[in-house]
Amino acid sequence: MIPLQTERLLLRAFTDDDLEFVFQLHQNPDLVRFIRTATTPDLETARRHLDKFMTLRDHPVHGFSVVELRTGPHAGTAVGIIMVKPIPPSGGGEATDTEIGWRQVAEHTGNGYITEAAAAALAAVLETGLPEVVAVTHPDNHASQRVCERIGMRRIGLTDAYYDTQTLLFRTTRA
Ligand SMILES: CC(C)(COP(=O)(O)OP(=O)(O)OC[C@H]1O[C@@H](n2cnc3c(N)ncnc32)[C@H](O)[C@@H]1OP(=O)(O)O)[C@@H](O)C(=O)NCCC(=O)NCCS
Repeated sequence: MIPLQTERLLLRAFTDDDLEFVFQLHQNPDLVRFIRTATTPDLETARRHLDKFMTLRDHPVHGFSVVELRTGPHAGTAVGIIMVKPIPPSGGGEATDTEIGWRQVAEHTGNGYITEAAAAALAAVLETGLPEVVAVTHPDNHASQRVCERIGMRRIGLTDAYYDTQTLLFRTTRA
C-alpha cells in the first residue's frame, strides 16, 4: 500500500531511524487518555512500538506508515502514523475484520494532516479489493470521530465486538 503521496504528505514505511519520532508521537496526552496501552514512558517502550510498526511491511493490504510532510519549509518532518491492520475481536479468536487507525504528534494537530493521510490510505485499501474497513474510537474521542466522518466512514454505533471493551464503530464498504 505504501509509499503513497497526497498533496502535502508522504506515507512511507517505518525504519530504525524513527525511534525518537515514535517516542514523541506517544507523548500526545489525548493518545494516553484514550488508549491506555499506548502509554510510552521511555525509549525502550517506544522501541517495542517501533518493532510492531516495522511488521507487515510486505503485506499487500495491511501496514503501518509514517505520515511525513513532503512540501514546505518543514518537508521531511514526521507528523503522525496511519495503521491498517486486523482488528482483534473481543474474547480472542481469529481477527477477520480490517481496521484503519491513526496517531498524531500533538503539536501537529489541527492541520488536516491525518484526514488527508487517512483518506488516501482508505482509498488505497479499498482499491485492493477489500470489501470493508472499520474504525473504532473511544466513545469520548470526538477528534478521532471527526476524522472518521471526514474520510467518509459511516457511524454505526457503540459496539463490544473488538478489543474487549466498548467502542464507537465506523465502517466503510467498497462501492
Ligand atoms: C485523532 C487525531 C489524529 C485528530 O487530529 P486532528 O488534528 O483533529 O485531525 P486532522 O489532522 O485530520 O485535522 C483536522 C483538524 O484540522 C483542521 N484543518 C486545518 N486545515 C485543514 C485542512 N487543510 N484539511 C482538513 N482539516 C483541516 C480541521 O478543521 C480539523 O479541526 P477540527 O476537528 O477542530 O474542526 C488526534 O487528536 C490524535 O492524535 N489523538 C490521539 C490519538 C488518537 O486518539 N488516535 C485515534 C484512536 S481511535
